[in-house]
Amino acid sequence: MSPLTAIITGASEGLGKSFAIELAGRNINLMLVALPSSSLPELASFIRKNFSVKVNYLETDLTRTESYLEIFDYLQEQDITAHLLINNAGLGNWSWFEEKSAAFYKMQIELNVVTPVLLTRLFLAQADSAVTSYILNVGSLGGLFLVPKKQVYGATKSFIRYFTKCLQLELYGSNVKISLLSPGGINTKPELLVMNNTLKGISKATILEPEQVARIAIDGLLQGKKEIIPGIINRLLVLLNSLLPASVKDMIIKRRLNTILES
Ligand SMILES: NC(=O)c1ccc[n+]([C@@H]2O[C@H](COP(=O)([O-])OP(=O)(O)OC[C@H]3O[C@@H](n4cnc5c(N)ncnc54)[C@H](OP(=O)(O)O)[C@@H]3O)[C@@H](O)[C@H]2O)c1
Repeated sequence: MSPLTAIITGASEGLGKSFAIELAGRNINLMLVALPSSSLPELASFIRKNFSVKVNYLETDLTRTESYLEIFDYLQEQDITAHLLINNAGLGNWSWFEEKSAAFYKMQIELNVVTPVLLTRLFLAQADSAVTSYILNVGSLGGLFLVPKKQVYGATKSFIRYFTKCLQLELYGSNVKISLLSPGGINTKPELLVMNNTLKGISKATILEPEQVARIAIDGLLQGKKEIIPGIINRLLVLLNSLLPASVKDMIIKRRLNTILES
């Protein structure tokens, strides 16, 4: 059995579930975390049956401060040191700012910002400095581009971008590798699949399947890549974004806003 263990947040569905299966296939033990009454018990037994890895799981609401300590207390009780942390759990939105409640934004900021920061802090405190440890922070291309109707979500992902890039500088020369995953759209749930199927041309070409993203992300993480942008079209869009003057980008965003207003 592998001596390595990975913590994956938001592991019951979507990209988190794909990370779990990808890591199990690479013989890495798992500590899965998702909300209570999620499908974690079924996923854990599926992985135990099909792979030779140890699977632990904890059903807890990561917007509760106590949940961070619960994860590491649980690992300590089992005498497990975690070598990988995947900060994946996140809450999106596609809505005008006034359409969501204050309580929604509080929860979104807690899950997308507070949780990864505090889990990273606790993960580093227990990391074994004699072996390489890995952190993968799941950001989004939404953290780089201004996207109307994704105002708070995009801002949380910009935070993750800054946080990860700063930590990379602070941890330079240490035995910790930290990567930022910046995906475009991913077909993680039926409603996204339906929406993504209506896209055409370049927009459609930016969409990937969760299994593809998980494989590319884990390859990049283990190779110590600083930023992982799955998909050639997505990488070209990022390059274009760095080359275009701000005035042209403003014009494109205003046009995009008009399209959304008319739809
Ligand atoms: N999908 C995309 O197009 C896309 C694009 C770029 C980046 N991303 C990023 O990729 C990550 C995964 O996205 P996804 O689409 O796979 O999400 P998803 O399908 O909605 O899955 C979210 C996961 O997080 C868990 N979760 C939600 N709230 C939680 C809480 N309070 N406490 C503990 N666990 C909680 C869910 O558990 P339950 O099953 O129990 O609810 C589920 O396992 C996110 O960070 C997202 O921002 C996604």
